[in-house]
Amino acid sequence: MPQSHTMRVIEISKPGGPEVLVTAERAVPVPGEGEIVIRVAYAGVNRPDTLQRAGSYAPPPGASDLPGLECSGVVAEIGPGVSRWHIGDKVCALLPGGGYAEYVTTPAAHALPVPEGMDLRAAACLPETYFTVWTNVFDRGRLQAGERFLVHGGSSGIGTTAIQLAAARGARVFATAGNAEKCAACTELGAEVAINYREANFVEVLKAEGGANLILDMVGGSYLPRNVNALADDGRLVQIAFLTGPKVELNFAQLMMRRLTITGSTLRPQSVVAKARIAESLEREVWPLLATGRIAPIIDSEFAMEDAALAHARMETSEHIGKIVMKVSG
Ligand SMILES: NC(=O)c1ccc[n+]([C@@H]2O[C@H](COP(=O)([O-])OP(=O)(O)OC[C@H]3O[C@@H](n4cnc5c(N)ncnc54)[C@H](OP(=O)(O)O)[C@@H]3O)[C@@H](O)[C@H]2O)c1
Repeated sequence: MPQSHTMRVIEISKPGGPEVLVTAERAVPVPGEGEIVIRVAYAGVNRPDTLQRAGSYAPPPGASDLPGLECSGVVAEIGPGVSRWHIGDKVCALLPGGGYAEYVTTPAAHALPVPEGMDLRAAACLPETYFTVWTNVFDRGRLQAGERFLVHGGSSGIGTTAIQLAAARGARVFATAGNAEKCAACTELGAEVAINYREANFVEVLKAEGGANLILDMVGGSYLPRNVNALADDGRLVQIAFLTGPKVELNFAQLMMRRLTITGSTLRPQSVVAKARIAESLEREVWPLLATGRIAPIIDSEFAMEDAALAHARMETSEHIGKIVMKVSG
């Protein structure tokens, strides 16, 4: 149980640049039915947080207005109907929002144990990208061992997770990234080929290999028709963002002639039950790989919570490789 009824948080004072993130005091949240309160040790920083701050990605109804989609920490309070967790358990959790704070509530089913041998700093970097990659690459995208998998933004938080997981599960991984250093990071993580998109055409590289069986894309815009061209027959394209825009002219005849699938999803608005199912799959299929150290989060940089604006500015330079994390307490 928290000693004080108020906590330090980072608020979005108004839509805008990183400077609109300000430290404030709020009431410590109370857990509802099926929820836990976590005393946050570290909070992961994700690109959607910067979009929320800028005013272009509103939290879903009922979610905290505070940014922060993932954290690690210690269970501080338990709501009615929760049997799995006990006060003092070390967890990492997917959050509907509110992670930039000393305490946060989340459905108990969206928390996972900190993988064996991993510290809280690294564990904070797991939930958002692992939930997203699992549901889009393996559930929706049905990636199989031996298939050719292309991930754009290979050096991003999502990309570094997707490369490692896909390679660990036996896929042949191709990644795109914007400079030589990022490309080197992608190959170090398990990509067979890293394509510097400023110097080479990923469509030609993939076509020479027989096409991609699955593409995970966050870029959109002009990449949409190029992704379709880069797919093998029966290939799948999974869209998780449209960093360069969602509207484009596309010849859909190829979908029919080559039996292609275009799909996509966003994690945050999905139901508590749907996200709990993803958590179950991760604990069964992925947590053992994390415990062996076969895969691990790649951490670019750490900031104090009070420096949230600097963390966002770092993300918006796009110079980072992997995850940005904030230390909140302890
Ligand atoms: N659908 C979902 O459920 C879901 C969940 C989480 C995240 N996402 C999305 O997934 C993407 C990656 O998230 P993240 O947290 O891993 O972010 P991140 O680390 O900041 O990655 C974004 C990457 O995209 C690349 N990029 C290409 N074109 C870009 C552009 N026009 N503007 C900015 N970056 C561009 C950058 O790499 P280069 O320098 O190599 O271009 C950058 O590293 C974001 O778009 C995020 O909104 C979706």
